[in-house]
Amino acid sequence: MVPVARAAILETIEDGVVVVDVYGRIVDVHGRPISGAKVEIWQCDANTRYHHIDDRNDAQPDENFQGYGFTASDADGRYRFRTIKPVKYPGRTPHIHFRVTGTGNVELTTQMYVRGEPGNESDGIFRSLGDLRDEALAAFVASDDDSAALMARFDLVIA
Ligand SMILES: [Fe+2]
Repeated sequence: MVPVARAAILETIEDGVVVVDVYGRIVDVHGRPISGAKVEIWQCDANTRYHHIDDRNDAQPDENFQGYGFTASDADGRYRFRTIKPVKYPGRTPHIHFRVTGTGNVELTTQMYVRGEPGNESDGIFRSLGDLRDEALAAFVASDDDSAALMARFDLVIA
């Protein structure tokens, strides 16, 4: 069964779709876990389309991609999503949007970027992060789960 699953993923990679598990922890400034936070992500599909009504991009939407998801952090502050490796779209380097709410009065909205992506340094929004750029980068590495190609850890600090 395992080789079959791997083969299926390799086929989809040829179409520009790379299955990735994005995971991490929601913590406070002291590194203490925040449980029960709502974690939302959204990103464009592999065809560069966002699945919302304001996307003027005329690329064909990938109807098999949800485009948005949410979960809650567990008792140790952990969250996990199965999604696709973000792709670049006109004017932007690859990124995944994040919003964390339900942690009191503080709401965090940010973007996760791909470490080593050549387009990062020419992306105005990424560059505007200045000294915080490194904290917005996640390393996409080979997954230890045969049902995903890559995994990427992204911890979020709620200040
Ligand atoms: Fe975006």
